[in-house]
Amino acid sequence: MLTVAVLISGAGSNLRALLDAADDPDYPARIVAVGADREADGLAHAEAYGIPTFMVPYAGFDSREAWGTELDEQLRVWRPDLVVLSGLMRLLPPAVVEAWAPRIVNTHPAYLPEFPGAHGVRDALAAGATQTGASVILVDDGVDSGPILAQERVPVLPGDDEHHLHERIKPVERRLLIDVVRRVATGDLDLVAASASASRTL
Ligand code: GRF
Repeated sequence: MLTVAVLISGAGSNLRALLDAADDPDYPARIVAVGADREADGLAHAEAYGIPTFMVPYAGFDSREAWGTELDEQLRVWRPDLVVLSGLMRLLPPAVVEAWAPRIVNTHPAYLPEFPGAHGVRDALAAGATQTGASVILVDDGVDSGPILAQERVPVLPGDDEHHLHERIKPVERRLLIDVVRRVATGDLDLVAASASASRTL
C-alpha cells in the first residue's frame, strides 16, 4: 500500500478527490497526512476523513530555506512513499526537492510546458488560447519544469473567465492525479525511471 502525504495551500478540492478515491479499499494508496503552508480551508477535508494534518506557516519563518527545513521534518514524521503537491502555492526550496525527489509530484492547471507558474489559468486566458489543459509532473528545482507524467487538453470556451475555466480544468486534474498515484502504487509508473529519462534528455 503506497503511503501518500499531500501538501496544499487552498480549498483542497483536488485533495478532496484524492481522499475520496483513497477511501475505496481497492485503491492501492492511502493518504497518511495532509500539510499546508497556511491555514488552508482544505485541511478540513483531511480532518473529515480523520487523517492527521500539519501546518507549517510560511509567514512564520525568516526564509524559504528555514520553512523548508521544518516542512521536511514534518514530512519525515509520516515517512510517505510519495509527496503530492495539490494546490501548494509555494516553491519548495532545493534542499526539500533533493530530499524527496523523485517521489514528489505536482498538479498544474495548464498543458505544460505551456503557462507554468502561479497563474497558469489566467495566463492561458490572457494569451487568447483556445485550449489549455491539466498536467501532473515530477517536481524538480524549477517552476513546473519537471518531467510530465500525465496531461490532457481542456478547451477554453468563449466567455470563459478564470474561475469558470479553472473549474473546468480541475476535474481533469483530479482524474489525472488519482490515476498517476494509482500507477505509482501499482508499479506501472516508475518515478525513478521517469526522472532519469528526463535528465538524459536535458
Ligand atoms: C489546482 O488547480 C492546482 O493545480 C493549482 O491550484 C488549484 C488548487 O485547487 N495549483 P484546490 O485547492 O485543489 O481546489
